Amino acid sequence: MYAQLVKSSGKGVKSLEEMDPQERAFQQRIDAGDKIEPKDWMPDGYRKNLIRQIGQHAHSEIVGQLPEGNWITRAPTLERKAILLAKVQDEAGHGLYLYCAAETLGVTRDELFEMLNNGKMKYSSIFNYPTLTWADMGAVGWLVDGAAIMNQVPLQRTSYGPYARAMIRICKEESFHQRQGFDIMMKMANGSEAQKKMAQDALNRFWFPSLMMFGPSDKESVHSAQSMAWKIKMNTNDELRQKFVDQTAPQAEYLGLTVPDETLRWNEEKGGYDFAEPDWNEFFDVIKGNGPCNTDRLNARRKAWDEGAWVREAMLAHAEKKRAAKLAAE
Ligand code: 3HC
Repeated sequence: MYAQLVKSSGKGVKSLEEMDPQERAFQQRIDAGDKIEPKDWMPDGYRKNLIRQIGQHAHSEIVGQLPEGNWITRAPTLERKAILLAKVQDEAGHGLYLYCAAETLGVTRDELFEMLNNGKMKYSSIFNYPTLTWADMGAVGWLVDGAAIMNQVPLQRTSYGPYARAMIRICKEESFHQRQGFDIMMKMANGSEAQKKMAQDALNRFWFPSLMMFGPSDKESVHSAQSMAWKIKMNTNDELRQKFVDQTAPQAEYLGLTVPDETLRWNEEKGGYDFAEPDWNEFFDVIKGNGPCNTDRLNARRKAWDEGAWVREAMLAHAEKKRAAKLAAE
């Protein structure tokens, strides 16, 4: 049932006059900066749109463990291994906070996993690209977590209380992730010629996919208008993409690396960089399931789900036994 709801959540934005009194009062609470809590009345569309966004966000955290988990056994030093391990564990924690936030809206975790596993719900396009070298661990931390923070810091002020509160802790941890990625890039960029080449190659491969993380251009975005009216999103996709480029281009220069975009140029008048758009055909192809790693990622998630069946059954049996013992004692 939720698959259908989630799919139908993109709609035009009603004016206050077009709303019925209950919807109008709700919108006025949002406009006044109130937080909406799980037991409050909310329009169906608000609930559906939140389930869609928080669910996709949670799935991204969980699937996002895969490209980095791939390098834990091959980290170059014990220290790097411990840091990477902690980062990948953090991502699992982020997924759990977000699934909890989604559950407060009336969807179950099993329903969310089912929609991930059967392809009805998306996760971030970025995790469908492979991590080929150790420098990719640097580029993922620096660029991917950097893009994630750019998008998620404003979400700490989102209108739905449980989502906003989850984002506060997540953002603190993502900042550490971004710093550790930049630190790897610094080491590589200042290392041997071969290491510098690896760092440049990682930047070349991750630059445009990172820009795609912010979603399609504002003209193509289906949900932005309504999500922003409801403060489910605080900025448009293009606004955040621009901020990310403005922040990241000088960092690349500091590293002595070249952003793979010949059109990248500071524009004094606009007070920001001009830059090339990603290949949107590639983006839509990846989110349709045709990226380089989509099949591998979903297979890994389905395998984890199947192999975890006995754990779920054991936990439920244990809870049932405890409940029966409590009843018998009463
Ligand atoms: N990857 C996959 N799908 C994407 C996407 C992306 N990068 N960007 C957009 N889409 C999808 C949308 O989900 C939507 O599809 P749907 O209707 O089937 O759900 C469609 O493309 C149209 O895009 P819209 O702009 O209309 O969608 P949104 O308004 O939802 O904007 C978003 C997209 C900016 C990603 C927004 O959902 C958002 O801010 N989400 C919360 C943050 C999030 O999910 N981040 C994931 C990043 S990874 C991460 O956090 C892990 C960390 O450890 C690195």
